[in-house]
Amino acid sequence: MTLPKWLIRLIFRLLYYEMAWAYDVVAWLVSFGQWAAWRRTVVPYLREGPLLDLAHGTGGLMADLVQMGWMPVGLDLSPYMGRIARRKLLRKGVTPRLVRARAQHLPFRDGSFATIVMTFPAEFALERQTLMEAARVLQPYGRLVIVAMGYMRPVPLVRQLIQWAYALTTVHKVSEGDVLTRIRAAGFAVHWEDAQSDGARARLLIATRDAQLWSPPD
Ligand SMILES: C[S@@+](CC[C@H](N)C(=O)[O-])C[C@H]1O[C@@H](n2cnc3c(N)ncnc32)[C@H](O)[C@@H]1O
Repeated sequence: MTLPKWLIRLIFRLLYYEMAWAYDVVAWLVSFGQWAAWRRTVVPYLREGPLLDLAHGTGGLMADLVQMGWMPVGLDLSPYMGRIARRKLLRKGVTPRLVRARAQHLPFRDGSFATIVMTFPAEFALERQTLMEAARVLQPYGRLVIVAMGYMRPVPLVRQLIQWAYALTTVHKVSEGDVLTRIRAAGFAVHWEDAQSDGARARLLIATRDAQLWSPPD
């Protein structure tokens, strides 16, 4: 059973916009406290150099990365998310480097980033236009790291309840094979990988941009 698509879209729209203030609490609840650790599984895959957090949400991963010495740029479509992330980063004492834009039209030059991370992105992540843009703004051999899902700890009833809630609110179910096909079509070598952080396990897509997509100006 699943909820009607219009209702699922309305729920997520509220969570990313007018009710963005509730996002961190909801993320904590549906992950049984593992959301932040799931996101941090990206860290070992980051390449040295400029880093983009694509669809940064409330900015939790950016704040963690700043604490580790990274200087990420963040992009999100929601101004509500932008405001919350800005405040979070200011509290860490860093100047927020945040941009409001669509993932499908990135306002960056070709080859700007060594790594792009997307954690728990919505449907837009697998759109051809988004993947082509990610390839364009990555350096040759740049890396796209996507946290697609987290594994729930074995707490029987809670786990079942949360899995039921996920099933109820999934709009499109795409197979792991189809996901690889879509990302490869945009010019990446890609594979699935399981990773851990602070005892939390997540399923990641690790994609490396082909070298020949972009050639530096003469
Ligand atoms: C599920 S949240 C993930 C946020 C964060 N990365 C995290 O791990 O908590 C999805 C985010 O994608 C943003 N978003 C949705 N569509 C987008 C688009 N087309 N371009 C950029 N951001 C988008 C939403 O505003 C929201 O902040």
